[in-house]
Amino acid sequence: MFSNLIGQERKFRNLINGQWCDSKSGNFIDIKSPTDGKIVGKVPAMTKDEVNEVIVAAQKAHNQWRDIPINEKAKILYKAADILQERINDLSDILIREIAKDKKSAESEINRTADYIRFTADTAKNIFGETIASDSFPGFDRSKISVVTRESMGVVLAISPFNYPINLSASKIAPALIAGNTVVLKPATQGSLCGLYLAKVFEEAGIPAGVLNTVTGRGSEIGDYIVTHPEIDFINFTGSTEIGMRIASITSMVPLLMELGGKDAAIVLEDADLDLAASNIVAGAYSYSGQRCTAVKRILVIDKVADELAEKIKKHVLELKVGNPTDEGVTITPLIDNKSADFVWELIDDAREKGAHLLVGGKRDGNIIYPTLFDFVTEDMRLAWEEPFGPVLPIIRVKDKEEAIKIANESEYGLQASVFTKNIDEAFYIAKKLEVGTVQINNKPERGPDHFPFSGVKASGIGTQGIKYSIEAMSRLKGTIINLK
Ligand code: NAP
Ligand code: G3P
Repeated sequence: MFSNLIGQERKFRNLINGQWCDSKSGNFIDIKSPTDGKIVGKVPAMTKDEVNEVIVAAQKAHNQWRDIPINEKAKILYKAADILQERINDLSDILIREIAKDKKSAESEINRTADYIRFTADTAKNIFGETIASDSFPGFDRSKISVVTRESMGVVLAISPFNYPINLSASKIAPALIAGNTVVLKPATQGSLCGLYLAKVFEEAGIPAGVLNTVTGRGSEIGDYIVTHPEIDFINFTGSTEIGMRIASITSMVPLLMELGGKDAAIVLEDADLDLAASNIVAGAYSYSGQRCTAVKRILVIDKVADELAEKIKKHVLELKVGNPTDEGVTITPLIDNKSADFVWELIDDAREKGAHLLVGGKRDGNIIYPTLFDFVTEDMRLAWEEPFGPVLPIIRVKDKEEAIKIANESEYGLQASVFTKNIDEAFYIAKKLEVGTVQINNKPERGPDHFPFSGVKASGIGTQGIKYSIEAMSRLKGTIINLK
C-alpha cells in the first residue's frame, strides 16, 4: 500500500493518467513541518508542460468515465472510504506533521471524510431526473415532453486549501467523480502530501487511469496557467478571498464554485445562556488554532451582559492547552508558517495600540501564537474586520441587536454567524437580517453535517456546497424533448 507514491529521498510523485510519475524538470518544493521545520517530503514543482499533460489526460478519460454506471462509480467510492479509514494512522500522522493538526482533529477529519465519500455515493444513487409536460405553459398543448437528465461538466479543477487538506479535497473529488466528471486536484502546497495520499487512496480503490490526476506546484507560479487552461470545464476552489477573486477575474465562461474567507460573528443577546455561549464561542474560535473558515472571528455582545460573558470566555481560554500536535488534549498548535503568524501578530499589535483590553494571551513564540482574547475592540481596529486565521478573538460591545446586525453586515464577508438567545422570535428576526450563507442558533458556526447546504455570500464565496448541492453544482441539466404528433 502507498507504493509508487514516493521515490527516493522522500520525493513524491504525481498521479498522471494512472501512473505515479517522477518530476520531469527535477524541481521540487520542500514541505517542512510547521512544528519543527524538518522536511516531511518534497513535491514536484510542475512545469506548465507537465500541467498540460495532466489536464489532457483528464480530458481524454472523461468520455469513458462519464458512461460508467453510477452504481459502479459508487462501488469505487465506498472502497476509497474504507481504505481511508484503514489507513487512518498513516494519514493522521501526515496531517500532524504536514499541517500541525492535533491528533484528535486529524482523526476526526479522516473519519468525517470517509463518511462524506460514502454519503456522496448514496446520494448520487438517489438523484433522479424529471420529465416536464408542455401544457402548463400558456399556448401549449400536451404535445411536448422534456426529459431532463443530469450530465457531467467535463474536467473539474479542484483547488484545496491547507487547513483541511483531506476533507476539502475529497469534498470536491467525490461529488465531481460521481457526477461523471474527471478531476485534476491541485492541493495547497503545504497540504500537498495529504492531497497526494488521498489520490493514492482513490487509485487503490480502482479509479481508472486519467479519471483523477494531481498537480503540485506553487499557486503563484502555475495558478494562472491552470485556471485559464482551455480544457478546464469547472473550477471548484476553496481558499482565501484574495486568490478566489483573482481566479474569478482571469477566467471566463467557466463555472466557479468557491468557498472563501469569513469573519463569522457570534451575536450574544441579553437573555442568552452565557455558559453555553462561552463554551461554544471558545471551541469555535480556537480549535485548530483558529485556522478554520468557520471559526468564530468576532463576538458582538449586548453591553449589559458583556462583562459576565467576557469573564466566562476568559476562563475557558485560560484552560486551552498550547503545544505540539501530538500532545494530548492540545488545541493551540504552531500556525501553518511564520508569515501567517506575522499577520496575526500585526492584528494583535494594532488592537493593542488602539486601546483594546487584552484579557488573555498576546504572546508569541515563533509561529505559535498563544490564545488571545481582546475586549473593547472598536470599529477602527483591524481586528474588527480582518480574518486573522489564528487564535485571536475580539469582543465588540454593542448597545442592542440592531447595532449587532449592522456591524455584522458591514463586513465584506458573509459565511456564517451565530445568534445566542433563548427567544426564538429574536433569533429568527436576526437570522433573517444577517447577510450570510448560514445562521446557527445557539451553536458555533460550523460546516457540518456535510449534507447541509454550505455557502458564503459577498466575499465569502460563489455557489453552494454540501453533498447533494455539490453534485448538482458540478453537473448540468440537459433536456431532450419528445415532440408528439
Ligand atoms: P490560499 O492561500 O488562497 O490557497 C488556496 C489554494 O489556492 C492553494 O491550493 C493555493 O496553492 C492555491 N493558489 C494560490 N495562488 C493561486 C493562483 N494564483 N491560482 C490558483 N490557485 C492558487 O488559502 P489557504 O491559506 O490555503 O487557506 C486559508 C484561506 O482559505 C482562509 O481565507 C480561509 O477562510 C479559506 N477557507 C475557506 C473555506 C470555506 O469553506 N469557505 C474553507 C477553508 C478555508 P499554494 O498553496 O501552492 O499557494
Ligand atoms: O475551514 C474549513 C471548514 O470546512 C471547516 O469545517 O466543520 O470545522 O466548520 P468545520
